[in-house]
Amino acid sequence: MPDPHPTGKVPGVLDTTRGLKTASCRHGHAKALSCRRPGGISGFMTIKDEKLYIVMVGLPSQGKSTIAYRLQDIFKKNDIPTMIYNNGELRRKYAPTETWMSQFYNPHNTEAVELRKQFALMNIQRARKYLRNKGQVAILDATNVSRSRRELIEEHLQDHPVLYVECINNDEDIVDLSIRHKVRGLEFASMSPEMAVLEFKKRIDYYRMIYSPLHVERNYILMDSLHNRIIDEQIEDQLPLYSRIRDCLVTDVVKSLFLIRHTESMFNIEDRIGGDPDLTPRGRAQAEALGRFFQKKRISFIFTSEKKRTVQTAEPIKAMQHDCTIVQIKEFNEIDAGICEGLTYDEIQRLKPDIHSARKANKYNYSYPGGEGYASMKERIKIGIKKAFFLNQRPDNIMIIGHRAVNRMILSHFLYRREEDVPYIYVPQDKFYHIVATQDRKVFELNRYE
Ligand code: F6P
Repeated sequence: MPDPHPTGKVPGVLDTTRGLKTASCRHGHAKALSCRRPGGISGFMTIKDEKLYIVMVGLPSQGKSTIAYRLQDIFKKNDIPTMIYNNGELRRKYAPTETWMSQFYNPHNTEAVELRKQFALMNIQRARKYLRNKGQVAILDATNVSRSRRELIEEHLQDHPVLYVECINNDEDIVDLSIRHKVRGLEFASMSPEMAVLEFKKRIDYYRMIYSPLHVERNYILMDSLHNRIIDEQIEDQLPLYSRIRDCLVTDVVKSLFLIRHTESMFNIEDRIGGDPDLTPRGRAQAEALGRFFQKKRISFIFTSEKKRTVQTAEPIKAMQHDCTIVQIKEFNEIDAGICEGLTYDEIQRLKPDIHSARKANKYNYSYPGGEGYASMKERIKIGIKKAFFLNQRPDNIMIIGHRAVNRMILSHFLYRREEDVPYIYVPQDKFYHIVATQDRKVFELNRYE
């Protein structure tokens, strides 16, 4: 795509930041070089503190906001006042015109660099004010990938310790899905989705140019945000809430998962397995009933497989929501029955008796010739769940519409079941599972929707 602003200037950008004052340290450390240790890090905070700044770090689409929301959610539940300060939100509010263009992120675009710095400062000051008052945790949600940006943060936030949380996610599928979702936003409305994706990818490349991984910072956690794994950490200060934060970062929290099996398909009425059939008229009516049932709940994403029967089940539900996206995840495709795809159970028993009896003898570990088994699906299902939870940014309701074998595996991911029992878990089409698995609440119920 041709560069729309070769001069590096972004037209139409409002200067809304005039009047921002530069904050200084309240501790007399402000002319702070005196309280800095080599490497440019402020070095006075070693005593126990009650309040904390958490600073997210990472390229766009690495799961920073998902983690920020998760932390806020868990703190709030424990009566710990927490606020998130997101630079992107300020930008969209105060400088909406063309700041979605990649040129706005070009490190050589001095005007835009300055504007972004002002937005960062605005949030830094808001966070400081919040902790000075009733706030206990302030989360700065932005890329913060350059050392100079982090120096700015450290220069202004010297009253309480700072913990950096750097997020890394190398799964290209997820990054792609996440970008596709982001460019659905209003600010990209004037261009085609393909152009918007390109612009967004260029934006990421610009951030890559200034990326400096955490290293000299006093307190940081480096995490694999897709797998909820801590890769590295360094903690020099006594941080409040630290063990709770670690626990939150590595735990799969399920606030409210609706796990639904697709409604009746053409193959279901013939007892035929696999394939890519449509829903029956009854299946469509069931999907409408699901839509009505969930109308009053807020469902931002519906994760389906790539098969028509799950997408057709999702469509009426989406239609009755205000702002809902269907995301197809290939990992949620039904068990691949290999050479038995499209056959009925009766045909398998008659035409392929060896397969029938071998599967019956050890259903969990058996794999269809040329296909899969429950055991061999385990890893991909786990990845599908990670993808869904990564994309479902706010930890509110999440909905998955899967298949019989897939849903059994998803259920067994959250609820311990002996392996040999998993292929027999009841997964009806007229009810759905509701699952809650948080640190203080576990719910697992089968509900009717009609
Ligand atoms: O019959 C529907 C179906 O989803 C098939 O596509 C799939 O092979 C089967 O259920 C999985 O159930 P089971 O493992 O009990 O055969």
